[in-house]
Amino acid sequence: MKIYAAPLEGVTTYIFRKAYNEIYGSVDKYFAPFLSPAENCPMTPREKKDIAPENNSGINLVPQILTCRSEHFIEAGKELASMGYKEINLNLGCPSGTVCAKGKGSGFLHEKDALQKFLDDIYSYSEAEGMKISIKTRLGYADPEEFYELVEIFNAFPVRELIVHPRIRTDFYKGEPRKEFFTYALEHVKCPLVYNGNIFSCEDYEEFSSYFGVSLDPIMLGRGLVSDPSLAGKLKGETVQTDFAKLRKLHDILYHKYQKIMSPDINVLYKMRELWTYWQVLFEDKDREIKRLLKAKKYAEYEAIASRILTE
Ligand SMILES: Cc1cc2nc3c(=O)[nH]c(=O)nc-3n(C[C@H](O)[C@H](O)[C@H](O)COP(=O)(O)O)c2cc1C
Repeated sequence: MKIYAAPLEGVTTYIFRKAYNEIYGSVDKYFAPFLSPAENCPMTPREKKDIAPENNSGINLVPQILTCRSEHFIEAGKELASMGYKEINLNLGCPSGTVCAKGKGSGFLHEKDALQKFLDDIYSYSEAEGMKISIKTRLGYADPEEFYELVEIFNAFPVRELIVHPRIRTDFYKGEPRKEFFTYALEHVKCPLVYNGNIFSCEDYEEFSSYFGVSLDPIMLGRGLVSDPSLAGKLKGETVQTDFAKLRKLHDILYHKYQKIMSPDINVLYKMRELWTYWQVLFEDKDREIKRLLKAKKYAEYEAIASRILTE
């Protein structure tokens, strides 16, 4: 089974990906959080750092682009090609208000004519320059039935892979995925198809696979993989339990690396807090400790609590 790590802006940074890959290594492909190219600026120095090959060595990384302007996509694509990338991903899923208001992410899904023209342009570039382009999409903007027309549009292009998160923009990340529309995708999408959404455990994987009547493969894991970094290994049958020694190692590497590149201290603690909002599901019996950890304002206090939680 092939497992892809989803992009989670602010969470799956190059620091996270590298540490994760060294410690767990059960992921076949990592997708970087989106780059947002602008006029004459295919990527900011901060975005470039995140996908710089030297910061991603040993990792099979696919950079992602968020734009509704084909010329911006192509400029960023050329820059990525010069860095050695052979595949890029188009973000058609981001539900954020500011992104959608600019017609990008899932905000591009209800502009069908503009989307088709955009895809015409970027796939011409793809074919001319030998750059593969995959797409990560939702079912639609306001109505899941938009998906039927979107599939027809996608089917007209040589999409490297279509990653489908079966929700619409207004669902954000809440509620049950709209499974019946992924069934439609299985039946009608012509390019390789990847399932993404709400796989938090092996039981979830089994349930989704049994609903669809196929062993989903590849799958893309987002929040489930951050919450339980052993999940990819569990799904591949490499381990049966969450490895807390590895989690401690991951925690320590991230904490020390973020201390090196971030300041002031409170920003490092915010970063760690965000990670703990995912990890806390693994420590349900340590609810009170976690609450205190999420409020820690000084390194010493944080370290003492984190160490107590992570030492079984
Ligand atoms: C904090 C956060 C940041 C995200 N950033 C991105 C992003 O940069 N690009 C993208 O395509 N999806 C992004 N997503 C969506 C995830 O990649 C994924 O599609 C979503 O979480 C559903 O998968 P899951 O249920 O396995 O988490 C983000 C989601 C979250 C929660």
